Amino acid sequence: MIHKPLLATVLGERQARPPVWIMRQAGRYLPEYRETRAKAKNFLDLCYTPELAIEVSLQPLRRFDLDAAIMFSDILVIPDALGQKVAFEQGEGPVLEAISETSIDRLQPERALEHLAPVLETLRGLKAALAPDKTLIGFCGSPWTVATYMIGGRGSTDQAAARLFATRHPEAFAALMDILVETSINYLVAQFAAGADVVQLFESWALNLDDEAFDERVIGPNKRIVEGVRAKVPNAPIIGFPRGAAGNLARYAAETGVNALGLDYATPLDFAAGNLPDTLAVQGNLDPLRLVAGGSQMDERIDRIVDAFSDRPHIFNLGHGIVPETPIENVARLINRVKNG
Ligand code: CP3
Repeated sequence: MIHKPLLATVLGERQARPPVWIMRQAGRYLPEYRETRAKAKNFLDLCYTPELAIEVSLQPLRRFDLDAAIMFSDILVIPDALGQKVAFEQGEGPVLEAISETSIDRLQPERALEHLAPVLETLRGLKAALAPDKTLIGFCGSPWTVATYMIGGRGSTDQAAARLFATRHPEAFAALMDILVETSINYLVAQFAAGADVVQLFESWALNLDDEAFDERVIGPNKRIVEGVRAKVPNAPIIGFPRGAAGNLARYAAETGVNALGLDYATPLDFAAGNLPDTLAVQGNLDPLRLVAGGSQMDERIDRIVDAFSDRPHIFNLGHGIVPETPIENVARLINRVKNG
């Protein structure tokens, strides 16, 4: 077996320098992404056309010395696969036909995996194309995060619609979470079968929850997914990214059983170094806007992050996705700094 430094780190092996990938590394900051994107009818079409999705997944690795490719798709292919109307409007983000407490039973989990077949085809193509030392990352959105879009119909800063729904309609909410947990398990198991080395659970909206809600909506469903996937894929390597988990972070890691913990940029380095078991791999956590600004402030912060996690398995990444305004030369500078000091 050829050594894959990023996969090995997820599994607990410390490297001399941290391996690196960048959340949303395939995207609009790259002119070649925008060019390929223009060939697809719309964004979901790009996700469901393996030839184009493979191309955009590989683009960042042609430019930069990254240790992983992440399959190109989106977390909202799951509601789409369940039969909910999903559209990506230019400049507006995703728009969904919001579900209600009486429309959940119209979702069609039995057809979901078939609908997602093109994404699995993308993974198989990437597996064949990637150099053997590169790690192939699959992913899905965690149930609560996906539910916030399904219930709210669009992104929001406070997830108010979903928080109210979960509180007012606990039975309907539990039914929705069951569907999302089940569909995500099947999807991730299929991703491993199609060649993923590791998968990431994107819980982008783990914030704005009281501790009881955090247990019920974040820890519980993520734990069920980890256990459900590992029942079919023993020891499946899984990264959890509960963005905004703050004081719930250590509990999330311990109770869900993920191998690696993605840290958002607001997580204090001291807190992470002091409160997480030192065998747990961590991933993160540069502020994406420091990457936009670049220069010496970025270099210094990169060094501080690398130092803070030098005695544990660490994957370098941003603390949230790269933004379209990011200068490409800053990305090259970041990767060089991480790899060579
Ligand atoms: O990381 C990668 O390169 C793989 C692809 C990927 C995309 N989305 C492509 C994308 C991944 C892993 C995601 C995850 C995702 N999608 C998340 C979780 C991560 C996070 O950033 O919090 C969320 C919340 C979504 C939902 C989503 N998709 C939103 C809110 C938007 C619109 C806002 C935005 O960032 O553009 C998208 C669209 C989207 N997903 C784009 C890309 C490249 C841009 C669409 C375009 O090209 O027009």
